Amino acid sequence: MTAAFRSEREFHFSSRDFEEVRKMIYDHAGIALSDAKEDMVYSRLARRLRATGIRTFKEYIDYLKAGHTEEWEAFVNSLTTNLTDFFRENHHFNILRDFLRTRQERPIVLWSSAASTGEEPYSMAMTAVETFGNFNAPVKIFASDLDTNVLKKCQEGVYPLERLKKLSPDRQQRFFLKGAGERSGLAKVRPELRAMVEFFQLNLLAPTWPIRQPLDAIFCRNVMIYFDKPTQHKILTKMKPLLKPDGLLFMGHSEALYHASDLFRLRGQTAYEHAEAAKAGKRM
Ligand SMILES: C[S@@+](CC[C@H](N)C(=O)[O-])C[C@H]1O[C@@H](n2cnc3c(N)ncnc32)[C@H](O)[C@@H]1O
Repeated sequence: MTAAFRSEREFHFSSRDFEEVRKMIYDHAGIALSDAKEDMVYSRLARRLRATGIRTFKEYIDYLKAGHTEEWEAFVNSLTTNLTDFFRENHHFNILRDFLRTRQERPIVLWSSAASTGEEPYSMAMTAVETFGNFNAPVKIFASDLDTNVLKKCQEGVYPLERLKKLSPDRQQRFFLKGAGERSGLAKVRPELRAMVEFFQLNLLAPTWPIRQPLDAIFCRNVMIYFDKPTQHKILTKMKPLLKPDGLLFMGHSEALYHASDLFRLRGQTAYEHAEAAKAGKRM
């Protein structure tokens, strides 16, 4: 960023301000922002300054530190990255389908731990319906995210038709209701599919998580990339006892768990199992 460009900014944003923001979001959510993210942070938070009428970043930071919880939520929501898609990394859903067929206990409990706007948990639900052949599949899906804005979208389950393009016509028809009139151009997840998913806010960095049921599989995809290695290890250590001994953990394609081989071991393409399960020679 050139000095000339910086001076054209609407609000002064010093390196000290950036450092403060970096520390606040790291301490709260584990999100580690690199130097390269300075422009992104400026433009996302400048919107918050406009919305609140606060005139400088220093004042905005002091306002947050004074404990204004509503603005804290907006601050956190502004700094998350929510890119997702239906059946993203499709191979995981093939592995999930085969895995569901092997499960004996009921219900089969799955967790989408960084669900974003819902494409991931609904893809899990679609896979379950397709595997068991009906909407009464014995599968319960928990969907959580830190960001309360995306969680609302996840709960509503309404998407622009554009987003559904990658789904086959059969899936579009079976799992969505197309809007008409004012809602044309939108599609809503069918209530039967939505009923399979339970939503709640969860910060992966929080000391405790409200999950009591043993989990058959955890999807923790494309979120670990925002955390440093010690934070990743801490989160994986907490996930491990929640996952049944023969359960599966799905990670994003760029999130290999070499640094956590004491906890999990590769079982399929970026699908992991308990390190001990693998040593005992258990296989799908
Ligand atoms: C890039 S999206 C990934 C969505 C989906 N898992 C996928 O792979 O398509 C990352 C999500 O992680 C969430 N996130 C970031 N930090 C988090 C934290 N500390 N706890 C829970 N979710 C977090 C963000 O809000 C965002 O929705």
